[in-house]
Amino acid sequence: MKKLFGVIGDPIGHSMSPEMHNNLFDFYGIDAVYLPFHVSKQNLEAAVKGLKALGVSGFNVTIPHKTTIMDFLDQIDPLAKAIGAVNTVQNENGCLTGYNTDGPGFVKGLESMGADLGSRSALIIGAGGASRAIYFSMAQAGIKQIDLYNRTADRAEELVRTCPFKVRSKVLDRETAEKSLHEYQLIVQTTSIGMFPNLEGLPLSLDQLSQGTIVSDIIYNPLKTKFLEEASKKGAKIQNGVGMFVFQGALAFEKWTGIFPDTETMRRNVLRNLGG
Ligand code: ATR
Repeated sequence: MKKLFGVIGDPIGHSMSPEMHNNLFDFYGIDAVYLPFHVSKQNLEAAVKGLKALGVSGFNVTIPHKTTIMDFLDQIDPLAKAIGAVNTVQNENGCLTGYNTDGPGFVKGLESMGADLGSRSALIIGAGGASRAIYFSMAQAGIKQIDLYNRTADRAEELVRTCPFKVRSKVLDRETAEKSLHEYQLIVQTTSIGMFPNLEGLPLSLDQLSQGTIVSDIIYNPLKTKFLEEASKKGAKIQNGVGMFVFQGALAFEKWTGIFPDTETMRRNVLRNLGG
Protein backbone atom coordinates (compact mmCIF):
# COMPACT_ATOMS: atom_id res chain seq x y z
CA MET A 1 0.00 0.00 0.00
CA LYS A 2 1.19 3.50 -0.80
CA LYS A 3 2.73 5.18 2.24
CA LEU A 4 1.68 8.68 3.26
CA PHE A 5 3.99 11.40 4.62
CA GLY A 6 3.47 15.13 5.04
CA VAL A 7 4.29 18.39 6.72
CA ILE A 8 2.04 20.36 9.06
CA GLY A 9 2.37 24.10 9.61
CA ASP A 10 0.71 27.49 9.32
CA PRO A 11 1.44 28.94 6.79
CA ILE A 12 2.46 25.94 4.69
CA GLY A 13 2.01 27.03 1.06
CA HIS A 14 5.67 27.90 0.47
CA SER A 15 7.18 24.78 2.04
CA MET A 16 9.77 23.15 -0.22
CA SER A 17 9.59 19.89 1.75
CA PRO A 18 6.87 18.19 -0.37
CA GLU A 19 8.90 18.59 -3.56
CA MET A 20 12.09 17.52 -1.78
CA HIS A 21 10.63 14.30 -0.40
CA ASN A 22 8.49 13.42 -3.43
CA ASN A 23 11.62 13.75 -5.61
CA LEU A 24 13.43 11.39 -3.25
CA PHE A 25 10.59 8.83 -3.24
CA ASP A 26 10.65 8.88 -7.07
CA PHE A 27 14.40 8.60 -7.23
CA TYR A 28 14.62 5.66 -4.80
CA GLY A 29 11.52 3.91 -6.22
CA ILE A 30 9.56 4.14 -2.96
CA ASP A 31 5.77 3.92 -3.28
CA ALA A 32 4.93 6.94 -1.11
CA VAL A 33 3.55 10.45 -1.31
CA TYR A 34 4.33 13.54 0.81
CA LEU A 35 1.68 16.27 1.17
CA PRO A 36 1.52 19.72 2.77
CA PHE A 37 -1.20 20.10 5.43
CA HIS A 38 -2.32 23.53 6.56
CA VAL A 39 -2.99 23.08 10.29
CA SER A 40 -3.88 26.03 12.53
CA LYS A 41 -2.86 26.15 16.21
CA GLN A 42 -6.35 25.30 17.44
CA ASN A 43 -6.52 22.23 15.18
CA LEU A 44 -3.12 20.80 16.06
CA GLU A 45 -4.28 18.14 18.51
CA ALA A 46 -7.09 16.98 16.21
CA ALA A 47 -4.70 16.93 13.24
CA VAL A 48 -2.15 14.76 15.05
CA LYS A 49 -4.88 12.34 16.15
CA GLY A 50 -6.19 12.27 12.57
CA LEU A 51 -2.74 11.60 11.09
CA LYS A 52 -2.28 8.76 13.56
CA ALA A 53 -5.73 7.32 12.87
CA LEU A 54 -5.04 7.41 9.13
CA GLY A 55 -1.80 5.54 9.65
CA VAL A 56 0.49 8.20 8.20
CA SER A 57 4.05 6.82 8.20
CA GLY A 58 5.73 10.05 9.26
CA PHE A 59 5.54 13.80 9.02
CA ASN A 60 7.47 17.01 9.43
CA VAL A 61 6.41 19.82 11.71
CA THR A 62 7.05 23.46 11.04
CA ILE A 63 6.17 26.91 12.39
CA PRO A 64 4.24 27.43 14.68
CA HIS A 65 3.93 23.85 15.99
CA LYS A 66 7.50 22.68 16.68
CA THR A 67 7.17 23.06 20.46
CA THR A 68 3.44 22.50 21.09
CA ILE A 69 3.40 19.24 19.09
CA MET A 70 5.40 17.62 21.89
CA ASP A 71 2.22 17.43 24.05
CA PHE A 72 0.52 15.20 21.48
CA LEU A 73 3.25 12.63 20.73
CA ASP A 74 3.85 9.28 22.43
CA GLN A 75 7.64 9.56 22.73
CA ILE A 76 10.25 12.28 22.33
CA ASP A 77 13.85 11.58 21.47
CA PRO A 78 16.21 12.95 24.19
CA LEU A 79 17.91 15.54 21.94
CA ALA A 80 14.54 16.89 20.76
CA LYS A 81 13.37 17.00 24.37
CA ALA A 82 16.44 18.99 25.42
CA ILE A 83 16.03 21.35 22.47
CA GLY A 84 12.31 21.65 23.21
CA ALA A 85 11.31 21.32 19.55
CA VAL A 86 10.32 18.54 17.17
CA ASN A 87 10.48 18.84 13.38
CA THR A 88 10.20 15.16 12.42
CA VAL A 89 7.74 12.52 13.58
CA GLN A 90 7.91 8.81 12.90
CA ASN A 91 4.92 6.47 13.25
CA GLU A 92 5.88 2.95 14.27
CA ASN A 93 2.82 0.73 14.71
CA GLY A 94 0.75 3.61 16.01
CA CYS A 95 3.44 5.02 18.31
CA LEU A 96 4.44 8.56 17.32
CA THR A 97 8.03 9.51 18.15
CA GLY A 98 9.29 13.08 17.78
CA TYR A 99 12.82 13.95 16.68
CA ASN A 100 14.72 17.12 15.94
CA THR A 101 16.77 16.92 12.74
CA ASP A 102 17.28 20.71 12.44
CA GLY A 103 20.28 20.90 14.79
CA PRO A 104 21.93 17.65 13.62
CA GLY A 105 21.17 18.77 10.02
CA PHE A 106 23.04 22.00 10.61
CA VAL A 107 26.04 20.06 11.95
CA LYS A 108 26.03 17.67 8.98
CA GLY A 109 25.81 20.64 6.63
CA LEU A 110 28.94 22.09 8.20
CA GLU A 111 30.74 18.78 8.01
CA SER A 112 29.83 18.59 4.33
CA MET A 113 31.96 21.73 3.86
CA GLY A 114 34.90 19.83 5.29
CA ALA A 115 34.73 21.57 8.68
CA ASP A 116 36.58 19.63 11.38
CA LEU A 117 34.35 20.47 14.33
CA GLY A 118 36.20 18.84 17.22
CA SER A 119 39.10 21.28 17.38
CA ARG A 120 37.13 24.43 16.74
CA SER A 121 35.75 27.25 18.79
CA ALA A 122 32.54 28.81 17.61
CA LEU A 123 30.43 31.89 18.15
CA ILE A 124 26.66 31.66 17.74
CA ILE A 125 24.71 34.87 17.18
CA GLY A 126 21.12 34.68 18.45
CA ALA A 127 19.40 32.71 21.20
CA GLY A 128 15.97 31.77 19.80
CA GLY A 129 14.63 28.34 18.87
CA ALA A 130 16.97 27.83 15.92
CA SER A 131 19.99 28.82 17.99
CA ARG A 132 19.00 26.35 20.71
CA ALA A 133 18.83 23.44 18.23
CA ILE A 134 22.18 24.39 16.71
CA TYR A 135 23.95 25.10 20.00
CA PHE A 136 22.91 21.81 21.62
CA SER A 137 23.72 19.81 18.47
CA MET A 138 27.14 21.41 18.07
CA ALA A 139 27.85 20.73 21.76
CA GLN A 140 26.72 17.12 21.28
CA ALA A 141 29.02 16.88 18.23
CA GLY A 142 31.96 17.69 20.50
CA ILE A 143 32.91 21.30 19.77
CA LYS A 144 34.96 22.36 22.76
CA GLN A 145 34.02 26.02 23.02
CA ILE A 146 30.79 27.67 21.86
CA ASP A 147 30.24 31.29 22.87
CA LEU A 148 26.98 33.11 22.38
CA TYR A 149 25.98 36.66 21.61
CA ASN A 150 22.32 37.72 21.65
CA ARG A 151 20.66 41.13 21.73
CA THR A 152 18.88 39.93 24.89
CA ALA A 153 21.66 38.42 27.02
CA ASP A 154 19.25 36.64 29.40
CA ARG A 155 18.08 34.32 26.63
CA ALA A 156 21.67 33.34 25.83
CA GLU A 157 22.39 32.73 29.55
CA GLU A 158 19.35 30.46 29.65
CA LEU A 159 20.64 28.40 26.69
CA VAL A 160 24.00 27.93 28.39
CA ARG A 161 22.34 26.97 31.68
CA THR A 162 20.06 24.37 30.10
CA CYS A 163 22.51 22.70 27.69
CA PRO A 164 22.72 18.99 28.60
CA PHE A 165 26.06 18.47 26.84
CA LYS A 166 29.49 19.34 28.18
CA VAL A 167 30.87 22.42 26.46
CA ARG A 168 32.70 25.59 27.48
CA SER A 169 30.58 28.67 26.80
CA LYS A 170 30.64 32.38 27.50
CA VAL A 171 27.84 34.84 26.88
CA LEU A 172 29.31 37.97 25.30
CA ASP A 173 27.99 41.47 24.97
CA ARG A 174 28.00 42.97 21.49
CA GLU A 175 31.21 44.97 21.93
CA THR A 176 33.19 41.99 23.24
CA ALA A 177 31.83 39.72 20.50
CA GLU A 178 32.82 42.22 17.81
CA LYS A 179 36.31 42.70 19.24
CA SER A 180 37.02 38.98 19.65
CA LEU A 181 35.60 37.85 16.30
CA HIS A 182 39.04 36.88 14.97
CA GLU A 183 39.40 34.25 17.73
CA TYR A 184 36.69 31.99 16.29
CA GLN A 185 37.07 29.45 13.49
CA LEU A 186 33.31 29.28 13.06
CA ILE A 187 30.59 31.93 13.32
CA VAL A 188 26.89 31.03 13.02
CA GLN A 189 24.19 33.65 12.42
CA THR A 190 20.78 32.41 13.66
CA THR A 191 18.72 35.60 14.04
CA SER A 192 16.07 36.72 11.58
CA ILE A 193 18.11 39.80 10.61
CA GLY A 194 18.74 39.67 6.86
CA MET A 195 15.78 37.41 6.09
CA PHE A 196 13.34 38.54 3.40
CA PRO A 197 11.83 41.14 3.67
CA ASN A 198 14.18 42.51 6.40
CA LEU A 199 17.18 42.55 4.11
CA GLU A 200 19.12 45.37 5.73
CA GLY A 201 21.13 45.41 8.93
CA LEU A 202 23.75 43.22 10.58
CA PRO A 203 23.50 41.59 14.02
CA LEU A 204 27.07 42.77 14.68
CA SER A 205 30.03 44.33 12.88
CA LEU A 206 32.36 41.96 11.01
CA ASP A 207 35.36 44.32 11.00
CA GLN A 208 37.53 41.98 13.07
CA LEU A 209 36.75 38.82 11.06
CA SER A 210 39.81 36.81 9.96
CA GLN A 211 40.29 35.39 6.50
CA GLY A 212 39.35 31.72 6.21
CA THR A 213 36.84 31.74 9.08
CA ILE A 214 33.75 29.67 8.34
CA VAL A 215 30.72 31.97 8.50
CA SER A 216 27.31 30.36 8.33
CA ASP A 217 23.91 32.04 8.13
CA ILE A 218 20.87 29.78 8.54
CA ILE A 219 18.78 32.03 6.28
CA TYR A 220 18.24 30.79 2.69
CA ASN A 221 15.90 33.50 1.44
CA PRO A 222 17.84 35.44 0.26
CA LEU A 223 20.61 32.96 -0.58
CA LYS A 224 23.22 35.55 0.36
CA THR A 225 22.31 37.79 3.30
CA LYS A 226 24.07 41.08 3.86
CA PHE A 227 25.91 39.31 6.71
CA LEU A 228 27.28 36.67 4.31
CA GLU A 229 28.13 39.33 1.74
CA GLU A 230 30.22 41.24 4.28
CA ALA A 231 31.84 38.03 5.51
CA SER A 232 32.70 37.03 1.98
CA LYS A 233 34.35 40.43 1.35
CA LYS A 234 36.57 39.70 4.38
CA GLY A 235 37.70 36.40 2.86
CA ALA A 236 35.52 34.10 4.98
CA LYS A 237 34.28 30.71 3.76
CA ILE A 238 30.55 31.26 3.72
CA GLN A 239 27.60 28.90 3.95
CA ASN A 240 23.91 29.80 3.67
CA GLY A 241 20.87 28.02 5.13
CA VAL A 242 20.39 25.66 2.19
CA GLY A 243 22.79 23.16 3.77
CA MET A 244 20.81 22.99 7.01
CA PHE A 245 17.51 22.69 5.13
CA VAL A 246 18.81 19.90 2.90
CA PHE A 247 20.42 17.92 5.71
CA GLN A 248 17.43 18.20 8.11
CA GLY A 249 15.36 16.73 5.24
CA ALA A 250 17.93 14.05 4.51
CA LEU A 251 17.98 12.96 8.16
CA ALA A 252 14.16 12.84 8.28
CA PHE A 253 14.14 10.77 5.07
CA GLU A 254 16.69 8.40 6.59
CA LYS A 255 14.55 7.94 9.74
CA TRP A 256 11.51 7.08 7.60
CA THR A 257 13.12 4.89 4.94
CA GLY A 258 16.52 3.76 6.25
CA ILE A 259 18.17 5.43 3.22
CA PHE A 260 20.50 8.41 3.63
CA PRO A 261 19.83 10.22 0.35
CA ASP A 262 22.09 11.98 -2.13
CA THR A 263 22.37 15.46 -0.60
CA GLU A 264 24.16 16.99 -3.61
CA THR A 265 21.17 16.31 -5.87
CA MET A 266 18.85 17.59 -3.13
CA ARG A 267 20.90 20.78 -2.85
CA ARG A 268 20.77 21.36 -6.62
CA ASN A 269 16.98 20.93 -6.61
CA VAL A 270 16.51 23.34 -3.70
CA LEU A 271 18.76 25.92 -5.35
CA ARG A 272 16.78 25.61 -8.57
CA ASN A 273 13.57 26.31 -6.59
CA LEU A 274 15.13 29.32 -4.95
CA GLY A 275 16.40 30.66 -8.25
CA GLY A 276 20.06 30.19 -7.27
P1 ATR B 1 13.83 31.29 15.77
O1 ATR B 1 12.98 30.15 16.26
O2 ATR B 1 13.78 31.49 14.26
O3 ATR B 1 15.22 31.23 16.28
P2 ATR B 1 13.02 33.26 17.74
O4 ATR B 1 12.94 32.20 18.79
O5 ATR B 1 11.93 34.27 17.65
O6 ATR B 1 13.10 32.63 16.27
O7 ATR B 1 14.44 34.01 17.89
C1 ATR B 1 14.80 35.08 17.09
C2 ATR B 1 16.26 35.46 17.35
O8 ATR B 1 16.57 36.57 16.49
C3 ATR B 1 16.56 35.92 18.77
O9 ATR B 1 17.91 35.66 19.07
C4 ATR B 1 16.32 37.43 18.64
O10 ATR B 1 16.97 38.20 19.62
P3 ATR B 1 16.25 38.56 21.04
O11 ATR B 1 16.33 37.32 21.86
O12 ATR B 1 17.05 39.67 21.58
O13 ATR B 1 14.84 38.94 20.67
C5 ATR B 1 16.94 37.69 17.29
N1 ATR B 1 16.46 38.91 16.66
C6 ATR B 1 15.32 39.09 15.94
N2 ATR B 1 15.24 40.34 15.49
C7 ATR B 1 16.34 41.00 15.92
C8 ATR B 1 16.85 42.33 15.78
N3 ATR B 1 16.18 43.26 15.10
N4 ATR B 1 18.04 42.63 16.36
C9 ATR B 1 18.73 41.69 17.05
N5 ATR B 1 18.30 40.42 17.23
C10 ATR B 1 17.14 40.08 16.68
